[in-house]
Amino acid sequence: MPATRPGSIGGVISGWGATLGERVVTNHDLAQTLDTSDEWIVTRTGISERRIGGTTAGLACRAASDALSLAGLTPDRIDALILSTTTPDRQWGTAQIVQRELGLQCGSFEVNAACSGFVYSLVNAHGLLAMGADRVLVIGADTLSRITDWNDRATAPLFADAAGAVVLESTDGPGQLLGWDLDSDGSASELLWADVGGTVNMEGKEVFRRAVRIMMDSAEKSMRHAGITADDLALIVPHQANIRIITAACERLGVDMERAAVTIDHTGNTSSASIPVALTEALEAGRIADGDNILLVGFGGGMTAASAVLRWGGATS
Ligand code: UT7
Repeated sequence: MPATRPGSIGGVISGWGATLGERVVTNHDLAQTLDTSDEWIVTRTGISERRIGGTTAGLACRAASDALSLAGLTPDRIDALILSTTTPDRQWGTAQIVQRELGLQCGSFEVNAACSGFVYSLVNAHGLLAMGADRVLVIGADTLSRITDWNDRATAPLFADAAGAVVLESTDGPGQLLGWDLDSDGSASELLWADVGGTVNMEGKEVFRRAVRIMMDSAEKSMRHAGITADDLALIVPHQANIRIITAACERLGVDMERAAVTIDHTGNTSSASIPVALTEALEAGRIADGDNILLVGFGGGMTAASAVLRWGGATS
């Protein structure tokens, strides 16, 4: 049921935060060891530099601390923690490290839907609110630098480390989530994947081709469920994988690039963190106001896709 039912318990985002990996790595740095150039990477991907370093849990805690303080909440007020990550520090138990370090007294679990994971988690957090939780902390955190083959010029320039977090609080009435879509296509799973303990395997050209289509499909479903069109969007916050994918998806949706949140030039692709980082940067730049319709849309390995339409500040009817 992707449209929020009238009268159901909804949620609003009351706090947000983001952090990037510790060390700046420029395209020129990469060109020292790889057969590549700043010109190729900028032209083909839109990335000028990326930030790497830190642990998934460590980055998650930094972003979440900011989100909690902006929401004005002490850790004991959080009812559940969802950590979206495709690069946990441990096979299991990374969400619980975050829970311990933040001093949360609640259940915690991980979601892995690759780069779509943050939107998957946000939708699931709304489900927890509908089941009686009052406040859910949702974090997207990834350290893709740990699963990147730094000798492979086809993938090394793309990936990086970051975390973004939001606090979702229950509200009377429908709240902010107007429509959503979670999708996956396992028949395409060999196009983008990583073994446990291995590095990223990707058929870049085919992923690119499908990415534009599945982002569009998912976005259109969410907007239809929300009862809006692309003209009604104040901002689109897309997964930051390649500026050319973002541009093509916006063009096909009929959204001009002035209405797109873009961070890829300085973040690279940070998977689960990509959308909450871009959302946080847009909020910090004053690009989002109460009543605005915001579209979050991502795609990723698996292959997965996910989108959500939010009415910022919550719907009034
Ligand atoms: O979260 C989702 C993760 N993944 C993605 O979203 C990836 C989607 N795909 C892409 O973003 C693009 O396909 C890439 C950025 C990965 C590649 O761009 P492209 O325009 O599709 O390039 P290509 O793979 O068709 O390669 C064109 C040429 C090739 O050389 P030849 O065969 O034409 O001589 C590559 O070997 O560029 C070469 N190449 C490079 N040259 C310099 C590939 N990587 C590099 C590089 N520097 N880093």
